[in-house]
Amino acid sequence: MDIKAVEESYARWAPVYDRTFGAVTRAGRRRAVQFINAREGNVLEVGVGTGLSLQHYAPHLKVTGIDFSHDMLKKAEAKVQEMNLSHVEALRQMDARQLDFPDNAFDTVAAMHVLSVVPEPEQVMREIARVLKPGGKLVVTNHFKSGKGVRASLERLSAPLANVIGWHSDFELETILKDDRLRIEQQESLPPLGMMTFLVLEKHQNN
Ligand SMILES: C[S@@+](CC[C@H](N)C(=O)[O-])C[C@H]1O[C@@H](n2cnc3c(N)ncnc32)[C@H](O)[C@@H]1O
Repeated sequence: MDIKAVEESYARWAPVYDRTFGAVTRAGRRRAVQFINAREGNVLEVGVGTGLSLQHYAPHLKVTGIDFSHDMLKKAEAKVQEMNLSHVEALRQMDARQLDFPDNAFDTVAAMHVLSVVPEPEQVMREIARVLKPGGKLVVTNHFKSGKGVRASLERLSAPLANVIGWHSDFELETILKDDRLRIEQQESLPPLGMMTFLVLEKHQNN
């Protein structure tokens, strides 16, 4: 997807997101936040969207969310205000390909259902690796391409519609494993129907 398509597609999604795609992907966000809540320090949520995860973070964490879509961010801001979520330090409009944070700034980065949406996912991974502290963790939930069967055929058929539906249905796991600073530590299948994957990647201590 190009960045204009992201803005347009998520302007359409924002009013209905929580009751549609947001509801279907709930298990992934819950699993990721459960993992993050057992950690200390600060968290960057890349592509925070409408902020569905924000109320579930433990109060000892300091959470910053960024998203490119103004419409999605507005929904997240409303949740922070309505629920008085004081652990949310900031919500900022930003392109994940160029994060406006210093190197080694975060203990944890979360990327939930976003890496198959962003243009240039390899560049987003480089930025995530840069802003993570050495020893810090990247927590990912996403749908990745399945190699065979009916699901693979559906993914292939819907792949050209990425700009319309708002994500790449045939996104390959290997795309996010190219940065040498990050290595997979944990991998699990998640509902619905094992279609989602939960991943934890660690940034090397010596980077
Ligand atoms: C499918 S939604 C996921 C939202 C949220 N993480 C969740 O799990 O509900 C994908 C989000 O990624 C955002 N996004 C796409 N490209 C982006 C970019 N280059 N920089 C920042 N956010 C981006 C979209 O605006 C959208 O809010």
